[in-house]
Amino acid sequence: DTLAAPNAYARASETAAYVRSKLPEALQKPKVAIVCGSGLGGLVDTIDAEPKVELAYSTIPNFPRSTVQGHAGNFVFGLIGPQKTPVALLVGRAHFYEGHTMDLVTFATRVCKLLGVGTMIVTNAAGGLNENYEVGDIVCLNDHLNLAGLVGIHPLRGPNIDEFGVRFPPLSDAYDLDLRRRTHKAWKKLGLDQQKRKLHEGVYAFVGGPSYETRAECRMLRILGADVVGMSTVPEIIVARHAGVRVLAFSLVTNKAVLDAGSRGNDEAIQTLSKSELNEHLNQGKANHQEVLDAGREAAKDMQALVKQILSDLHED
Ligand code: ADE
Repeated sequence: DTLAAPNAYARASETAAYVRSKLPEALQKPKVAIVCGSGLGGLVDTIDAEPKVELAYSTIPNFPRSTVQGHAGNFVFGLIGPQKTPVALLVGRAHFYEGHTMDLVTFATRVCKLLGVGTMIVTNAAGGLNENYEVGDIVCLNDHLNLAGLVGIHPLRGPNIDEFGVRFPPLSDAYDLDLRRRTHKAWKKLGLDQQKRKLHEGVYAFVGGPSYETRAECRMLRILGADVVGMSTVPEIIVARHAGVRVLAFSLVTNKAVLDAGSRGNDEAIQTLSKSELNEHLNQGKANHQEVLDAGREAAKDMQALVKQILSDLHED
């Protein structure tokens, strides 16, 4: 069932109260929540050692458990950067493909809202569809294609929860332009524009997963205007925007999607393929979870530096 649970507000309130009861005064009102995608949990190491509180998802009432290898499940609270900004880190997330309802996939976002979070930075690992993207590049999202949502698998389906937001929220401004501007400035300020890894602006296509896309699906998504494709992020962003939380989102390109059709049909070309050509075709761009995690490790440092710089710039306002 994809319906939002009618008691979502009460459950999120109960969880927020529980979490608050575990936090010292200095951490009780996080300004920014950061969702750490596959292999991007290293951000946790960049927050101050004290005060810091880590709550395992399994100990938090109403929280979904993440079941994917490489996605730990911890809600971490601490202070980050020279200005000691209070932050909440979600290390590991619930995905729709795990079997969770959309309501559970977005539950932590609502808890963050109730804890007082005003800005959410969402990161993920994604497949690159844009031909100009390389593995290890970072994409600052400026829009999305909610493929599941367009056919009704949507986190806001069901009675509207008025305490959070309106029935028909706009999403044309979902990807905060001011935060994106700050991102590109921070990238330059850190000198990251002088290296191989690129920072792009692009459109994220949300797919249900868990299988990776076929070649034809990749071509379809590219034709539709997507630059990257992934299995998360969009539900959280919609629920955050519904509740008036500002959003900044990054994809780390962990593999290049194969747009090339390869050999099709029973034609002359396919009959004369050599063994080595067959092998090359087989191995070309096959997405796998290990490569997703490896690319995450490599690029995580830049992503961490970027997020820290943005947080520090935000504080100066
Ligand atoms: N996450 C990482 N790579 C992906 C891909 N190619 N498709 C969907 N999700 C992904």
